[in-house]
Amino acid sequence: MFSKKITTWGTGALLGLGLAMGSVGVQAQTGNCEYLVTNDWNSGLTGAIRISNTGDSAIDGWSVSWEYDNNQVTNAWNTQLSGSNPYTASDMGWNGTIQPGQSVEFGFQVNKNGGEAEAPEVTGDVCAGGTSSSAPASSSSSVATSSEASSAVSSSLASSSVPSGGEQCDWYGTLYPLCQTTESGWGWESNESCVARSTCESQPAPYGVVNGGSSASSSVSSSVSSSQSSVQSSASSESSAQSSASSSSAPSDDLTFESLRNLAEFPVGVAVPAGNETNSILDDDPTGEGQREIITQHFGQITAGNIMKMSYLHNQRGNFTFGNADALVDWALSNNIGVHGHALVWHSEYQVPDWMNNFQGTEEEWVEALREHVIGVASHFAGRVDSWDVVNEAFVDEGYRTDSIFYENMGERYIEEAFIAANEADPDADLYYNDFSMENGQPKFDNAMAMARDFVERDIPIDGIGFQFHVFVDWPSTSAMREVFSEVVDLGLKVKITELDIPVNNPYSDNYSYPDNYISEYTDEAAQAQKERYCSIVEAYLDEVPPELRGGVTVWGVFDSDSWLIEQTFDNNHDEWPLLFNDNFEPKPPAQGVGDALMGLPCQ
Ligand code: XIL
Repeated sequence: MFSKKITTWGTGALLGLGLAMGSVGVQAQTGNCEYLVTNDWNSGLTGAIRISNTGDSAIDGWSVSWEYDNNQVTNAWNTQLSGSNPYTASDMGWNGTIQPGQSVEFGFQVNKNGGEAEAPEVTGDVCAGGTSSSAPASSSSSVATSSEASSAVSSSLASSSVPSGGEQCDWYGTLYPLCQTTESGWGWESNESCVARSTCESQPAPYGVVNGGSSASSSVSSSVSSSQSSVQSSASSESSAQSSASSSSAPSDDLTFESLRNLAEFPVGVAVPAGNETNSILDDDPTGEGQREIITQHFGQITAGNIMKMSYLHNQRGNFTFGNADALVDWALSNNIGVHGHALVWHSEYQVPDWMNNFQGTEEEWVEALREHVIGVASHFAGRVDSWDVVNEAFVDEGYRTDSIFYENMGERYIEEAFIAANEADPDADLYYNDFSMENGQPKFDNAMAMARDFVERDIPIDGIGFQFHVFVDWPSTSAMREVFSEVVDLGLKVKITELDIPVNNPYSDNYSYPDNYISEYTDEAAQAQKERYCSIVEAYLDEVPPELRGGVTVWGVFDSDSWLIEQTFDNNHDEWPLLFNDNFEPKPPAQGVGDALMGLPCQ
């Protein structure tokens, strides 16, 4: 099986080392700066600059510059970039402090403009000081992988000054400490998550900087409970405006446990709307607030339902728009929630950007364009996502899906190229092949497994199979699910349920006929059937997949009426109540069903 020990850094080239003497303010800066090429292809490369503190006092803020003869930076991450050759990159606040012996890195993508990869000298006060003999021997190994690099960053920030009482940040109803040294975004200071003043001030009224209580932690917990009660009241006023959707749902205190995520050793996840989408979880309204309460209480991982798809992140070649996804990922991480990336490559027309749909080129040029996309996105989020759906929906029952722009131009090769590129860009993320209608086994599942077996044999980096699980109460059988799970396990790959939802009707069953014969009310009977079904799916997962191969279980949506199924499977004709929470943001019987399975209780 593929070994994740092969890291980008291990195979990447160290191209340059800039050393100069200097100082920032009164504090001597003793660091060195390395220019690294982390991936190199015909027309471009991704690079990183690593700044290591080789002195014995903390570096507090940094800024470095470099200049190319011919190369050109097209985007950068984990830094504020200014200028266009020479370029100047400075810290984001949260990564400004570098403790002695530690390093920070930021990344960028480069267009080679028809030339070679260049090796520019990196200059700046922070690159001053250290002679090569003073550089700690551990500095390169301490940043051998991107996740190690980010843990070095957070530990380096942990000893920054404590936010003092008085002012705090009201972030959508929850109080957080205001960062003292972080200038923008979220930070981590004094072992606490904090919000930079500028970021906090940019929140709409009534949020923003407020006068908090005596200590940060006591005001955080009191604000959480007061915001919870405000969610209940604002949600119930909203519910009267929203039809009958949730009338027969269980109230929240009916659950026999506090939190779904705490019942599992693996990620219990949920798909969320964000960015400019309707019902974005970051909106400052009752719907945003209600969802955030549910997510932070019950889920340990999120998937962006849409905004990390290709057209959202890469709408013009080489021009990535990460702002909305960054805001979502930052929110998740600052709330101790992981992120599953969805999806690097998906043929679905609405989300393949025009530049790619209209791209004319040879197979090699297509591969290059695909790699640019996968590497640009995966390296941007490296160290911040747990896993990726690398390729989504590449098979049909007859074999490879041929109505895909990727298949049309690269044949089946595009799938392995995407996995190879994703692994180069983020060697630590788990990489999944994801598809629907594999839960019932053959023949689509067999096609995907033949590919997975081939990948394993040839060391193409794949970590797991993602089963979407858009299933029904009566389809497919749990025994079929058990069989497919165990086949993946036998191959040594992880199993992830990536998009679980269960409507009360099955539009493909013989009995269903809208509007004459269908379940039109969320009756106790419908809720009970759904509860047992959710429970028995999670039970099958736990029975068949050993702990080390459990990639997690994700539900596709937070609250019932926001489910994609209503519009896309049921033509917006009626409610289906397919999720775990109702429109009042209260848990429903299926939430108890999932909890029962996680607690090892019978499904009933
Ligand atoms: C869906 C989203 O939920 C909808 O909002 C969007 O309109 C269409 O895509 N399988 C997938 C997901 O892999 O990306 C799809 O998400 C649902 C089916």
